[in-house]
Amino acid sequence: MTTLSIIKADTGGFVGHSAVHPEMLAVAEEALREAVSDGLILDGHADSCGDDISLIMTHEHGADSERIHGFAWQLFQRTTGIAQRLGLYGAGQDLLSDAFSGNLRGMGPGYAELEFTERPSEPVICFLADKTEPGAWNLPLYKMFADPFSSAGLVIDAKMHAGFSFEVYDLYEEKRIVFDTPAQSYDLLMYIGAPARYVVHSVSSISTGVLAAATSTQRLSLIAGKYVGKDDPVMIVRAQSGLPAVGEVLEPFAFPYTVAGCMRGSHHAPIMPVSRAQAHPARFDGPPRVVALGFQIKNGKLIGPRDLFDDPSFDRARAQANEVMDYLRRQGPFEPHRLALEDLEYTTMHALEQRLADRWEAMPGVAAPAAH
Ligand code: 13P
Ligand code: 13P
Ligand code: MG
Ligand code: MG
Ligand code: MG
Ligand code: MG
Repeated sequence: MTTLSIIKADTGGFVGHSAVHPEMLAVAEEALREAVSDGLILDGHADSCGDDISLIMTHEHGADSERIHGFAWQLFQRTTGIAQRLGLYGAGQDLLSDAFSGNLRGMGPGYAELEFTERPSEPVICFLADKTEPGAWNLPLYKMFADPFSSAGLVIDAKMHAGFSFEVYDLYEEKRIVFDTPAQSYDLLMYIGAPARYVVHSVSSISTGVLAAATSTQRLSLIAGKYVGKDDPVMIVRAQSGLPAVGEVLEPFAFPYTVAGCMRGSHHAPIMPVSRAQAHPARFDGPPRVVALGFQIKNGKLIGPRDLFDDPSFDRARAQANEVMDYLRRQGPFEPHRLALEDLEYTTMHALEQRLADRWEAMPGVAAPAAH
């Protein structure tokens, strides 16, 4: 079995929250090369989307491996050191713990890991996003694996006909459930349509049982108990031969759907599919970006990446995202551009409520102010 892991963290932004400094990426690439020659990993590739570094690695240690997670943790400590030396913004932003113990769960860095037996041809797509939350993958995963108007293979390919199982996490109560589609599509949508709380963690084929997709699912704010930037999630999707074709995996991103994130992690904004060269959110720290890195995996080697959104067929999605940004931005601090109060990770409202407690008084004709 081969494991493909993407482990990612924001260890400092250049400039502000817009990009990763090239020196940090160079150190990451060198460390991955060493890890290959030391025999820790089969292959590795370092990349970025916005201010988040992603380590894309193939290995034989399985998911949640202490050695693989420990390697990434140490590497993120090193890139944090560079960020500190250069005075980059938010050095070590996503490293929420002082000491590594076993694996990265609850420590800040995000990870998506997928274990599989390599097929003769193994096309995979690694999606990296910036300025949004893990539930941002819910809509495209539904379209890829459950919407025949998006993925033709659900109708045409006999191996896809039986549908797919979606494993969904409830991030607030730390529990999970599995829904089979198409039979339970409407139940699934009831939950994953609330992406701040319910997040698709993995998808597998009902007819073959193979694992088709895995996402990074956590909420930094739930770990830290305060605003520490957005999670900026990653996702792995395998393609072809009984799974959606590469073009079916990409098709949902031709529509720049709305996600939570953007400026201060506190706004709804469209997600813009971009090439790696354009993966540097600037306007209003957005719009949120997604890049798609395609690889063929052969004997554990990562053949690639191909920069799959570097394609004029996504120009319209980018133009539409810009138009939607113009529209939303004009609403300034008003919902629904600004997130609803319960989803705001800034604690300003709480502080205001305390400061203004004695200025609120009962409305005329009402006995006492409603208790909060
Ligand atoms: P080919 O006929 O080129 O193999 O294409 C099959 C396919 O996957 C198209 O989506
Ligand atoms: P990041 O999560 O990408 O660091 O973004 C934080 C932020 O506040 C952007 O405005
Ligand atoms: Mg940042
Ligand atoms: Mg980021
Ligand atoms: Mg972040
Ligand atoms: Mg072909």
